[in-house]
Amino acid sequence: MAEPIIVTLDGPAGVGKTTLAKRVAQELGVAYLDTGGMFRATAHALGQDGLQLSNEELANELEKLRFSLQGSGADTVLLCNNRPVGDEVRTEAVSMLASTMATKPIVREFQKQAQQALGADTSLVAEGRDMGTVIFPQAPHKFFLDARPEERAQRRLRQYQAMGKDADLAELTQSIRARDEQDRNRTVAPLKPADDAHIIDTSELDKEQVFQEIIGSIQGNVNG
Ligand code: DC
Repeated sequence: MAEPIIVTLDGPAGVGKTTLAKRVAQELGVAYLDTGGMFRATAHALGQDGLQLSNEELANELEKLRFSLQGSGADTVLLCNNRPVGDEVRTEAVSMLASTMATKPIVREFQKQAQQALGADTSLVAEGRDMGTVIFPQAPHKFFLDARPEERAQRRLRQYQAMGKDADLAELTQSIRARDEQDRNRTVAPLKPADDAHIIDTSELDKEQVFQEIIGSIQGNVNG
């Protein structure tokens, strides 16, 4: 049997990580781990009130959440307490709440343990903010995607439209900038590339080009 492999894909909001993670996972025949989905499901479960809880209360609430993965490739499903994490967590309100909760060390520690447990004996394409720096620092293939905020807001707009949801470009740009600010500047596990990450600026590239660059790099490494 082939050795388990971990590929990390980090980057800011709206850069296209999820689409790429799914495709890369499909190509490699492994599961993909949407850690943003884990933070979002946590924010959705706790709600705004979660921000007022003491560390002890928060720990009690976090204890009730169990994450698991089903299937592999593009069909991988993230489950929270045995229920698929769905579009209910894909709103701007949940995005911002997830980003705020993600600044809390106790939430990060909980996520770290849950994410590392999922990757302990399973090959994964893991996407998020700190996959290459904190969660899977030993991963042999690390990528950091970036793009201008205006470009990322455009991409988000198209995603919402595809889901049949209304969105405003100016508001999306502002929300992406606010999350960038919070995600890059938090004290614990801020968004930044690992020293050994392959950095790809996707502003001028389409998804196919980014996918080819990632797969080429992985296969080059694997075969070389
Ligand atoms: O990738 P996303 O937009 O679904 O993530 C939602 C928020 O969750 C993001 O703004 C910050 C937080 N997050 C994080 O802090 N670390 C991760 N590995 C993934 C997400």
